[in-house]
Amino acid sequence: MKKLLFLAAGILLGACHSKKTFQSYSHLDTTYITRGNAIAKISFETLSSELQKAMQRGGIDSALRYCNLHAHPLTDSLSRAYQASVKRVSTKTRNPNNQADELATFLMKGFGIEISEGKPTTPKLVLKEDSVLFFKPILLQPLCLACHGTPGKEIAFSTDSTIQKLYPRDKAVGYKTNEVRGVWRIGFKLKN
Ligand code: HEC
Repeated sequence: MKKLLFLAAGILLGACHSKKTFQSYSHLDTTYITRGNAIAKISFETLSSELQKAMQRGGIDSALRYCNLHAHPLTDSLSRAYQASVKRVSTKTRNPNNQADELATFLMKGFGIEISEGKPTTPKLVLKEDSVLFFKPILLQPLCLACHGTPGKEIAFSTDSTIQKLYPRDKAVGYKTNEVRGVWRIGFKLKN
């Protein structure tokens, strides 16, 4: 975190060791923002449509079990398809494997501030060692409340008990619509 510098509009760059990476800033900006946005969009659409299909097949509980088994395989297959590392991370996780690191936590809080001030959020790029990392907020929509809203209110008691069984350390509840539920963290390896 200490190494990070804010440079051009919307861009965070850090740990810039080589002259080569220094020379490619403007190129990085447009290319990786465009690619990151496209991958975040398709990843969100893929997860949402699979989630909705699972809900239609067997209701919320079956969708919960579907997410439990398939969320990671789905993001892994998107990673392979787009030759990028596609992850959903959060400060308040359901699956502890999705825990945001220090950098993602810092950016997630920044997105939350932008939203609470009514400002449009802009994706952020970070140059870290040999990778460009793209971050974009994942906002909570009404569809998400059945599993990430308030237990006993939007989350049914039966769903809550399935969540507790599958994720005994769950922290991903109590959200309201339009809150930042997490961030897309999409990593692109820079070619030498
Ligand atoms: C049917 C229940 C269900 C619904 C509806 C649901 N989720 Fe989740 N969500 C889960 C489960 C289960 C996980 C944990 C998946 C895993 O094991 O990686 C999860 C994990 C996540 C994560 C990763 C961070 C973490 O907490 O582990 C994000 C981000 C997320 N959900 C966002 C959303 C958003 C945004 C929506 C609405 C568009 C949504 N979810 C709708 C069940 C649900």
